[in-house]
Amino acid sequence: MTYAVAMPVAPQQPAGEKPAKAHLPDAQTVLSVHHWTERLFSFRVTRPKSLRFRSGEFVMIGLLGDNGKPLLRAYSIASPAWDDELEFYSIKVPDGPLTSKLQHIQPGDEIILRPKPVGTLVHDALLPGSRLWFLATGTGIAPFASLLCEPETWEKYGQVILMHTCREQAELEYGRRLVSSLHDDPLIGDMVDGKLHYYPTTTREPSEHMGRITDNLTSGKVFADLDLAPMDPEEDRAMVCGSLAFNHDVKKVLEGFGLHEGANSEPQEFVVEKAFVGDGI
Ligand code: FAD
Ligand code: A2P
Repeated sequence: MTYAVAMPVAPQQPAGEKPAKAHLPDAQTVLSVHHWTERLFSFRVTRPKSLRFRSGEFVMIGLLGDNGKPLLRAYSIASPAWDDELEFYSIKVPDGPLTSKLQHIQPGDEIILRPKPVGTLVHDALLPGSRLWFLATGTGIAPFASLLCEPETWEKYGQVILMHTCREQAELEYGRRLVSSLHDDPLIGDMVDGKLHYYPTTTREPSEHMGRITDNLTSGKVFADLDLAPMDPEEDRAMVCGSLAFNHDVKKVLEGFGLHEGANSEPQEFVVEKAFVGDGI
């Protein structure tokens, strides 16, 4: 994809004065940054006044590349649609064109944010149901962070189950903090109580619950551990976000339970979105 945009022209400076900071196209200001691990960080930015989105959608964000052109990547908005600010949860790919630079942003810096949200992980893409499953690996939790803070999620469903799987415990911390903060949230705290089942697992380090999401669904372990009935296409709805291989394998498992994949244009029992393109690092 190429982005042909007019670049800002630096104003002429009187001798001895510092050059004015060139403003990025579609610039938003970084408000805070939190590093969770060597591979993961989250940050909050100002929200463009023109941006309307549905919780669960993604936008293109980025920085100016070395060639002076915007270097943009798809990012799920991790904050809910009602929030005045925007949050993102990001990987740090050591040689990644964008994230090798993005990981160094500081409060006060600017990023580019194209205010054109899209995505399939939205309530409108699912038929009505009574239980909603969020199935994520790694940064795939980002759209569900948004949806967990969305009142519509709790109005529409009697039970919400978040399954989040990472290799190691430290990679689960963003999700753990989010889940524990939900209960104290003035907007949705009361709605969440008794409805949320959180099932974090690791695959390469011991923790309370272990194993891949696919295995824990097919073996029935997650249903037994949470004391829930197995999935039923009449009752259960699911949203999936992970690597291509994960999405492919979970889709098969959900189809095995009799659920069908839907889209914005044709709501069904589950929807899928890529957390990233590629094989992982
Ligand atoms: P790239 O050249 O884009 O990627 C290099 C390689 O790094 C990829 O081939 C892949 O193997 C690996 N990689 C890239 N992203 C990830 C990741 N998130 N987790 C594990 N491995 C990865 N990334 C986020 O960090 N947070 C998000 O919320 C997010 N939302 C996305 C939503 C959509 C719909 C899509 C398609 C992608 C999303 N991504 C997200 C991935 C993001 O677009 C970039 O790929 C990522 O920021 C790395 O950019 P890069 O230029 O540094 O490296
Ligand atoms: P595993 O450690 O068994 O590969 P990654 O860091 O490679 O993106 O993986 C994130 C998590 O997703 C890991 O816990 C990994 O388990 C799991 N995972 C990767 N691929 C699949 C898949 N095809 N099906 C289910 N889980 C997967």
